[in-house]
Amino acid sequence: MPVGIDDISFYTTNFSLDLQELAANNGSDAAKYTVGIGQERMSVPGADEDVVTMAANASMALIDGMSARGEDPQAITTILFATETGIDQSKAAGVYLHSLLKLGPRCRVVELKQACYSATAALLLATAWVARKPKEKVLVIASDIARYERQSPGEATQGCGAVAMIVSANPRLIELDPETGIHTEDVMDFWRPNYRSTALVDGKYSTKVYLRSVRAAWQDFQHQSDLTFGDFDYFCYHLPFSRMAQKAHNHLANGNAHKLNAKALDQQISASLMYNRITGNSYTAAMYIGLVSLLDNTSADLAGKRIGFFSYGSGSVGEFFTGTLVKGYQNMLHQQAHQTMLDARQPLNYADYQKMYAFEVPTDGGDHVFEQQTNGKFRLTGISQHKRLYQVR
Ligand code: CAA
Repeated sequence: MPVGIDDISFYTTNFSLDLQELAANNGSDAAKYTVGIGQERMSVPGADEDVVTMAANASMALIDGMSARGEDPQAITTILFATETGIDQSKAAGVYLHSLLKLGPRCRVVELKQACYSATAALLLATAWVARKPKEKVLVIASDIARYERQSPGEATQGCGAVAMIVSANPRLIELDPETGIHTEDVMDFWRPNYRSTALVDGKYSTKVYLRSVRAAWQDFQHQSDLTFGDFDYFCYHLPFSRMAQKAHNHLANGNAHKLNAKALDQQISASLMYNRITGNSYTAAMYIGLVSLLDNTSADLAGKRIGFFSYGSGSVGEFFTGTLVKGYQNMLHQQAHQTMLDARQPLNYADYQKMYAFEVPTDGGDHVFEQQTNGKFRLTGISQHKRLYQVR
């Protein structure tokens, strides 16, 4: 029985900063951003957005789709919420989400963490669960806000977004294979201690570890599966910035003595980079936004095509896995809604970006009401006595 992704949708916030605006104000050459790291814009969260509101906004398209097709959303009996922008050390962000989506009480909810990788653990754990209970569906969430120190090299690689996926038996989008390649090693390339709101990163080292991880995960995959590099039509990589995927793809291709020219190699990943170039890094969600980007921005029928995925989480865990697009997958896409959301984003000037960056949720236990900034259906209205308050608009 095939198991995989039945539906997928993504959300990003309604503000963005053009990296040319950032370069003009921090003394960098804009080409370093647009060419060197391959990014044009980054999404910026308003004060009333967090990983819960972004996840709820991403999920709503899936819940509405189920209802429109006469399917019962209560078939979702598990929510696996992957994030490295956790809002609480104890309560899972997914419990707030479960409430906002009005799902039934017979639903287990848990949060997963391992840097940008944990959504992949969530997805693969979900397939294992569905294989045991084929009538049940799992909602997998990846939701993050990438935040670095101002004026640091990482600043241009910020961004935010969330992906929601339904994992089911007989999926209508992508069937996932059980064979995967895994590589874990204890390194300090990127991390965020509990007392910090911004990540610490050894930037150039992190790109080296990423490349080492892709090669090692692929080598393990070769032991687990009979598939070769030539069996793949497209690739989706973790996307801290789009140039990283280009480097990783060339690295993997070179290690496999491939026979493709540079243009053909580029065509295997170019559509997956389009959304990332304008939303920025979204940690756990980044590779899956890349998948949505590939599907939304490829007009050819991809049914039967095989995608290779490389998921990387600093620290580090890397996993290579694979899936095949199902006939008629186009019926499950949300291309128009994604485009409308991206087109409606408001460009920020540098002063507004600085102001929004400076906002932090108050920690004094008082009653605080947040200005409405998001256009999303769900918002964080404030915090009262250390309790986050959410609202459906
Ligand atoms: N025109 C064109 N290209 C230019 C240029 C110009 N004027 N100026 C510089 N460049 C090129 C450089 O040659 C370089 O290209 P190569 O990598 O091909 O050599 C590229 O632009 C970047 O320049 P630098 O290496 O000088 O940039 P930097 O050191 O200031 O910052 C970075 C780059 C280290 C990636 C930094 O953005 C960073 O620390 N980012 C956060 C960490 C990160 O994303 N790591 C990725 C792997 S870890 C991971 O994937 C997990 C995660 O999500 C964080």
